[in-house]
Amino acid sequence: MRAGGDAPVTVAHLTAPTDHRAQMIEDVRHGLTAYRKHLASKYFYDARGSELFDEITRLPEYYLTSAETEILAERADSIMAEVQPDELIELGSGSSDKTRMLIESMQRNSSGRRYVPLDISEEALRSAALRLCDDYTWLEVEGLVGDYVPDLGKIRRRGRRLIVFLGSTIGNYVPTLRHSLLRSVAAALEPGDAFLLGLDLVKDEETMIAAYDDSPGVSAEFNKNILHVINRELGGDIPVDAFEHVTRFDRELSCMSQSLRASRDVVANIRALDLAVTFVAGEEIHTEVSCKFSRIQVEREFDAAGMRLTHWYTDNGDRFAVAIGSLQTPP
Ligand code: TRP
Repeated sequence: MRAGGDAPVTVAHLTAPTDHRAQMIEDVRHGLTAYRKHLASKYFYDARGSELFDEITRLPEYYLTSAETEILAERADSIMAEVQPDELIELGSGSSDKTRMLIESMQRNSSGRRYVPLDISEEALRSAALRLCDDYTWLEVEGLVGDYVPDLGKIRRRGRRLIVFLGSTIGNYVPTLRHSLLRSVAAALEPGDAFLLGLDLVKDEETMIAAYDDSPGVSAEFNKNILHVINRELGGDIPVDAFEHVTRFDRELSCMSQSLRASRDVVANIRALDLAVTFVAGEEIHTEVSCKFSRIQVEREFDAAGMRLTHWYTDNGDRFAVAIGSLQTPP
């Protein structure tokens, strides 16, 4: 514990806390009454879902985590020495070992000691912030509850910035939303600042499919957990066993696409929505896209957002990349 109990941890809201339940009711009604049914992937993550995702990141098939860790272990020091950030802003909650590697490297390589995680979950933010503050007594943590695109611009600047977005989470955004996200990142940068982005790369289909459909069945259970969440939170009686985990690679979008397929005709009631939902055998509920990238694609997307790709690091197997970007310099 920190001496004196004066842990400089703060958690603040950038937008008024929205009513999570009201939002969920609206999202689920919209998704399950659509022509092509879909559910928002943020509803994967109740306590069980977070546990399952953690388990996924430790599976040998889910190479993303170990490949990104390998790159950061090798490059964090040189990146920090070059950028010398005063503040590290992370999109998504920073409880992971990968964030710790960056924080430790920040201590070794620069004077910065401010860490600003931005996340939509206040609980995730608070517990991660407290753990980090316990382990790094020199660190100032200012957790911010908010949404990346509307709220990135509201973060008060305290010196040179490094904005990081790990885990190829950017792949969970469809191209138009991805463009908005990259534009908000660019708008939050000044000359000398940098953006560090973790990206899963396009590769042979077999490897990508195994990552989203592992043999122990953890991915399948994780995907189906979204139905348990709806049943519990909204008083539903969706027969989870009647759905199968489906994953496929969409060549056109360069994305893995995950869904749940009804193996028979199903009628389910969801009390909080006062809604009966019908599924015909074979019908799918889309749950997530995980887009896969190439260097040229990232160069183009950075460029379109007003950024320049300055560094590109890959793991030994060329499966994953860490891209560094900065603002385009005016001609
Ligand atoms: N955000 C993770 C990813 O895109 C989520 C994920 C991993 C996932 N495995 C899954 C979603 C299996 C649905 C099914 O890599």
